[in-house]
Formats: sequence, structure tokens, C-alpha cells
Amino acid sequence: MRRVLITGAGSGIGLATARLLAAKGFRVYGGVRKSQDAEALRALGVVPLLLDVTQEESLLQARRLLEGEGLEGLVANAGIAVAGPLELVPLSAFRQVLEVNLLGAFATVKGFLPLLRQSRGRVVLMGSVSGLVALPLAGPYAATKFALEALADALRVELLPFGVRVVLVEPGPVATPIWERSERWAAAYLEPPPPGTEGVYGRYLEVARKMARASAKRGLPPERVAEVVLKALLDPRPRARYLVAPKGWRTLLLRHLPEALRDKLLARFLA
Ligand SMILES: NC(=O)c1ccc[n+]([C@@H]2O[C@H](COP(=O)([O-])OP(=O)(O)OC[C@H]3O[C@@H](n4cnc5c(N)ncnc54)[C@H](OP(=O)(O)O)[C@@H]3O)[C@@H](O)[C@H]2O)c1
Repeated sequence: MRRVLITGAGSGIGLATARLLAAKGFRVYGGVRKSQDAEALRALGVVPLLLDVTQEESLLQARRLLEGEGLEGLVANAGIAVAGPLELVPLSAFRQVLEVNLLGAFATVKGFLPLLRQSRGRVVLMGSVSGLVALPLAGPYAATKFALEALADALRVELLPFGVRVVLVEPGPVATPIWERSERWAAAYLEPPPPGTEGVYGRYLEVARKMARASAKRGLPPERVAEVVLKALLDPRPRARYLVAPKGWRTLLLRHLPEALRDKLLARFLA
């Protein structure tokens, strides 16, 4: 494993992963959308690539650049978080999160698979515990991450005969800019609330804000996830899934509760 492409390498988990892999001597290509992010990556010894995962042409150009070089690892990490009470989330925002987190990850894998098949390389998909438990107010985001679980399961088996391994990394809350960004977007589309819903979900918005701020504050450092990505890339016998959650983190226990009880507990947070 020598050459690895990471999408969404301009901040958060992608940036921490790019930094770690470059420090370990990999040739790292970091997908970014802004020239200042490209400069910051260059300073770390990472080769920046202008790459928007929702633009096929952008993916095609990046692949052309790498065709002469080869690629052994792909980390499909780019993502956004769209949150809020589902009734209030505009369809356009829901479409956007599907476009980036699900279709963008799919388009990235599809775009670089010819190179990865040649090298019998490895795909790491950035999932989330939101792909295992869907919490209220995180519906659109969780929908993309649940779908990513399905994509990973199908892809893993399809690529087995070619020696290309597919791994999902599933972090719990991580302290990255994603939370603040999601709060900013939510404010833009939820405030003021759409006509006819004024006051209906008032408290929900406050809860969503509190949840985002708590996750941003108490989340794992992105470097922890980067280390797990490194492991997922290098393990001689990689697991299908690598969970990365803070010690004692209990949200995942919700999966094992009877649904009626789980719903009651969660609804309490909204009341
Ligand atoms: N933070 C968490 O708690 C957490 C937990 C579990 C999973 N994750 C997942 O981890 C991944 C990285 O998130 P993060 O927390 O590190 O957030 P982040 O700091 O906001 O990073 C997200 C990155 O994705 C990029 N991106 C967004 N839209 C893109 C597009 N259309 N094309 C290419 N790149 C795009 C962003 O680039 P710009 O700066 O140009 O927008 C940014 O570099 C996401 O898939 C997220 O779902 C995060």
C-alpha cells in the first residue's frame, strides 16, 4: 500500500487522516474544493486534488491524473450533516446530503475502481454509528449512513474475487467542523420555520443545537479515527467494520432495547 486518495481532506477526519498517512510515508492525494485547503495540504506533504464528489467531471479529471501513477487505497470520506425535524427539512437539503454522502461515495468508488482492481487495492468508506442507530433529528444524515452500510455489504462481496477489500469505518461523535457547519445550515433552512409549522417544533431545534454542540465539544479527536483508517487500510485480514466510539459511550446500547422502550427513552429528550 503506497498511494492513497482521501476525499474531503480539507478538514476534520479527512485532514487528520491525510496528515497521518503522509507522516507514515504514504503518497497521499487529498481531495479538496478550496485552493487554501490545497495549500495547507501541500505544506503537509500531501498532493492536493481539486475534487467535488458530486461532480462526475471532477472525479473523471482526478482519475485521469492518477491513471499514470496508480492507486492502492481509497478513503471515501467526504460528507456533510443535514439535521432537523423531518417535516421541516427541505427536500433540497435532503437531496444534497444524499448527493454527497451516498451518491458521492458511490461515484468516488466507481470512478477509481479500475485503478484499485489493477492494484488489488482497498476501499475505506466513512460510515458512522448513525448508520447503525438513527436518532431523532438526525434523520436525513442517518438515512445516508444506513444506505452506506448496504452499499458496503454489496460491494464487499462483489469485489472479493478481484482482491479489492472494502471496509467501513463507523465513528461515533468526533470533534470536527461538521457540527458547526450543520448547525449553520439548519439555521438557514429552519429559521424561520416553514409557514404553518411556527412553534410546532420549537423545542426540537434547541435540542438539535444542544446535541450538535455537545458532540463537537465531547467528540473524539479526529486523529483517533485517522488511526483506525490506517489500520483499516493495512490490516492483512481487514474486518468488514471498524467501530470508533468514545469509551463508555452508550448510544449503541439503544440497538439492543425493545423498540417501544427505545422510542420512549428518545422521545423524552424531545419533550
Ligand atoms: N464528526 C463526526 O462526528 C463524524 C462521525 C461519524 C462519521 N463522520 C463522517 O466523517 C466524514 C468527514 O466528516 P468530518 O466530521 O471530518 O467533517 P468536516 O470537517 O466537515 O469534513 C468534511 C469534508 O468533506 C468535504 N466535502 C463536503 N462536500 C463535499 C463534496 N461535494 N465534494 C468533496 N468534498 C466535500 C468538506 O469539504 P469543504 O470544506 O470544501 O466543504 C470537508 O473537507 C463524513 O463522511 C462524516 O459523515 C463524522
